[in-house]
Amino acid sequence: MIYLPTTKAKVLRILEKNRGQSISGSKLAKTLNISRAAIWKIIEELRNEGFEINAMTNKGYCLAESSDILSVEGILLHSQNPQIKREQIHVYKTLESTNQLAKKMAVAGGSHGTVILAEEQTQGRGRLGRSFFSPKGTGLYMSIILRPEGTADQAVLTTTAASVAVCRALSTTLGIEAQIKWVNDIFVNNRKVSGILTEAISNFETGSIESLILGIGINVSTEKYNFPEELQGIAGSLLKKNSSNTISRNQLAASIIHEIFTVYETINSGDFIPEYKSRCFVLGKEVRVHRGIEEYNAKAIDIDSQGALIIERQDGSKETLNSGEISIRTKTD
Ligand code: BTN
Repeated sequence: MIYLPTTKAKVLRILEKNRGQSISGSKLAKTLNISRAAIWKIIEELRNEGFEINAMTNKGYCLAESSDILSVEGILLHSQNPQIKREQIHVYKTLESTNQLAKKMAVAGGSHGTVILAEEQTQGRGRLGRSFFSPKGTGLYMSIILRPEGTADQAVLTTTAASVAVCRALSTTLGIEAQIKWVNDIFVNNRKVSGILTEAISNFETGSIESLILGIGINVSTEKYNFPEELQGIAGSLLKKNSSNTISRNQLAASIIHEIFTVYETINSGDFIPEYKSRCFVLGKEVRVHRGIEEYNAKAIDIDSQGALIIERQDGSKETLNSGEISIRTKTD
């Protein structure tokens, strides 16, 4: 089935394409073969949804450069990836959790490559049962349904690959060279700006993974003082207030989706592991390993071909960690 854009989506697409420039109501009406009154009604609807659209006498309507509302149109406009289809992108104002909805959609048959985004999450989920702070309008919260062909190993590798994909997107869109804290926390200037939560839906009978929900959360422009107190020492954002380095969240989302799809094609080759290693700042460091109720000191040595962390315990024995968490030890720890 081919999904055609609605008239509202077409108006938004034209405004997005001409962002910062005015386009007259009569031109819009003529292009879309509808009345000027209908255009006016659509503009009002878009404004009510939060789009900053200025109207100038004798000039027409202009989508402000500062307007930063997530939309399917905005994402498609910035996407150079033909694999990304209109009908697979779903944008919501508010959700409890994009991962939660993606899971429901996957169970109901949602296809590989379905992407769910929300302007805010009221119950954003983090790893190890934690929550992920997801305020409105200043972050990117998205989940992608993947249908892996391989085994559970591929699930671990997908998470590893996703970290590399996010780093690549930050590099191409913002020129930011981010670092990775194993497993998949993305750091910029020693602050965590992004986290990834991969959840698997498996078939109990066959033991195979039916789908993976790849959830990515990014703090784009959340101000430091707006983070909950317990996060203020660690969390950071990509963009600083008044920085000249700006980007719309649609652009960033399009780039991340593109990089995820690209890296996923090479999932079985593990070609992204060297880049993961070069960005992984824990290697060679003294760490504290947290695994369930167990905690111990070790040195992080390497990442294996499956994305697992190889550590050396204090008695000299080596261990391969497929899950869990580490924290870097300072000299006083
Ligand atoms: C972590 O750092 O512990 C992982 C955070 C993952 C957050 C993202 S935001 C989009 C998706 N939906 C969720 O509920 N969680 C993930």
